[in-house]
Amino acid sequence: MIHQNVLETIGNTPLVKLNKVIKSVPGTVVVKMETTNPGHSIKDRMALQMVLDAEEAGHLKPGGTIIECTSGNTGMGLALAATVKGYKCIFTTSDKQSPEKFDILRAMGAEVIVCPTNVAADDPRSYYSVAEKLAKETPNSYWFNQYDNLSNRKAHYLTTGPEIWEQTEGKITHFLAGVGTGGTISGTGRYLKEQNPDIKVWGIDTYGSALKKYHETGVMDESEIYSYITEGIGEDIIPLNIDFDIIDYMEKVTDKDGAVMCRRLAREEGLMFGYSAGSAVAGLLQLKDQLDEDSLVVIAIHDHGTRYVGKIYNDEWMKKNNFL
Ligand SMILES: Cc1ncc(COP(=O)(O)O)c(C=O)c1O
Repeated sequence: MIHQNVLETIGNTPLVKLNKVIKSVPGTVVVKMETTNPGHSIKDRMALQMVLDAEEAGHLKPGGTIIECTSGNTGMGLALAATVKGYKCIFTTSDKQSPEKFDILRAMGAEVIVCPTNVAADDPRSYYSVAEKLAKETPNSYWFNQYDNLSNRKAHYLTTGPEIWEQTEGKITHFLAGVGTGGTISGTGRYLKEQNPDIKVWGIDTYGSALKKYHETGVMDESEIYSYITEGIGEDIIPLNIDFDIIDYMEKVTDKDGAVMCRRLAREEGLMFGYSAGSAVAGLLQLKDQLDEDSLVVIAIHDHGTRYVGKIYNDEWMKKNNFL
């Protein structure tokens, strides 16, 4: 089969069983390897859906400019779609992200504006505020806002959920995913629970994020928020894409445990994944007592390890952070 363009290669990613790193976990644990998407991350799915829906709604017009605040992966997906469909891209990102991510976006022809991480979301310097301002100032542009744009979770309801259901022949018992915008867990989790309400949906959060506390209490507790090293998961805002009713439980994982697990996945399983994948697998180990021999856990893997070669796969960086 010949694909007409790169966008047609998004999705239909493989499930791969983990073996060594989950030896102490009862049941079967598999990863949904979203690294095989053309942009090497799960975010290709929602980026394409946001573009299709924005075109249909008339927000995105020929020759228009896509504006987005992105830690890198959504930007990559949007850049793929923009290249094929003829749009320009301007991305705002935060300075804590791996520099590789900025270089990749620039390589795809996008303009990248790096904003400070350690400011509140409503600060005019934050990457959310700068994107909003740019959208107002740039003619024929549209700010996608992946946090509140529900095309995000729709992509996973339409594609990721059905793929997992079919690939496991309906035998999945637990779905586990890192939570950032919440698109992955909410869309996939909703589809899976509609097929079988007994499926448990577990979200992985980080220390320094307000999400777990909000899930458990409904309180947005500012004291939960501080800067952390893990990339891609945890939030200092409550995105509209998170459907908290779909999530059964949220578990926090430390920066160190996520990083160390990434290196184990590479060396023990031959799977070189991004930071949040290590957090997700480490989080599963923390929850293993809730599983039994019949459990079939599917873990969403958000991105590829190549984006972190200067960080978690670099010994000096690991030592500097006291992770080794
Ligand atoms: C590396 C990585 N992990 C996890 C996530 C969280 O996924 P979601 O935004 O669908 O909750 C993201 C999203 O930006 C990501 O880039």
